[in-house]
Order: sequence, then C-alpha cells, then structure tokens
Amino acid sequence: MRARIFGMAVAALALAGVAQAADNIPAAAVTEADQIWTTRCALCHGAGGKGDGPAAAPLNPKPRDLGDKKWQSSVDDKHIELVIVKGGQAVNLSPMMAANPDLESKPDVVKALRAKVRSLGGK
Ligand code: HEC
Repeated sequence: MRARIFGMAVAALALAGVAQAADNIPAAAVTEADQIWTTRCALCHGAGGKGDGPAAAPLNPKPRDLGDKKWQSSVDDKHIELVIVKGGQAVNLSPMMAANPDLESKPDVVKALRAKVRSLGGK
C-alpha cells in the first residue's frame, strides 16, 4: 500500500516535471502561480477548476468546468494567457472574469497559471 502511494507520487512528480520542462517555467513561478490559484482563482473556479468556488454562486454566466476536454481543445494557450492577464472582457467573455494587471510583468507566472489550467484538463 505504502509502496503504491509512493509510486503514484513519483509518477505525479515525473509528469509535473515533464510539463514544466516543456515550457521551461522556473520553479519559483510555479510556486507563485499555485499561490495565486489558491488565493484568487479558486474563489470562483474552485480548487479543482470545476467552477464551484465559494464566490461562484451568484455569477452569471458561471465559470465553466476548466477540466472539460472539449473546451480545453477549443482554445489555444495564448487565449488562456490573455484571459488571465486581460480578463474576460478582452475576449468577449464575462467581465466577472477579472483582469490581473499585476501579472503583466510576470510572464512566467502567467505561463505557470496557464499550465495549471491545462493540468485540470488532464495535461
Ligand atoms: C471573481 C470570479 C473569478 C475569479 C477570481 C477568476 N475567474 Fe476566471 N472566470 C470567471 C468567470 C465568471 C468566467 C467565465 C466567463 C464567461 O464564460 O463569460 C471565467 C473564465 C475563465 C477561463 C475560461 C475562459 C474561456 O475561454 O471560457 C479561464 C481560463 C479562467 N477564468 C482562468 C482564471 C484564472 C487563472 C484565475 C486566477 C488568476 C481566474 N480565472 C480568476 C470568474 C473568475
């Protein structure tokens, strides 16, 4: 049992390593992105990106399930990064998807957030 859990942890780390290596995202940016996800994004999107965060209830439209594979394959990485920095309005989505102007000067953190969003879709 312990060996199995350990094996899964190693596999998860290996996968995360591959995703990061492909993008060359510095570890510090990944850490910062994880913090931003938890403290900002998850309020609306929910920790797992299902759109079930505590602040999502009154929103209309509600945030979609970011894990939805159809949606994942319908958007490119640029779209996701643009939404994160410039907000929903920039791409004709709800202005309730707020812009994050402080991330304009942090492209690595934006990349790491985009990778986080992609990971919700199983990538
Ligand atoms: C105040 C609530 C709120 C917060 C905070 C928030 N979002 Fe959103 N987000 C939304 C809503 C609402 C939508 C759906 C907009 C629509 O469908 O018109 C959305 C949509 C999205 C989308 C999908 C865009 C698409 O093409 O459908 C992504 C990706 C996203 N948000 C990422 C993030 C990330 C990353 C963060 C944190 C930096 C974040 N969001 C913070 C409310 C929020």
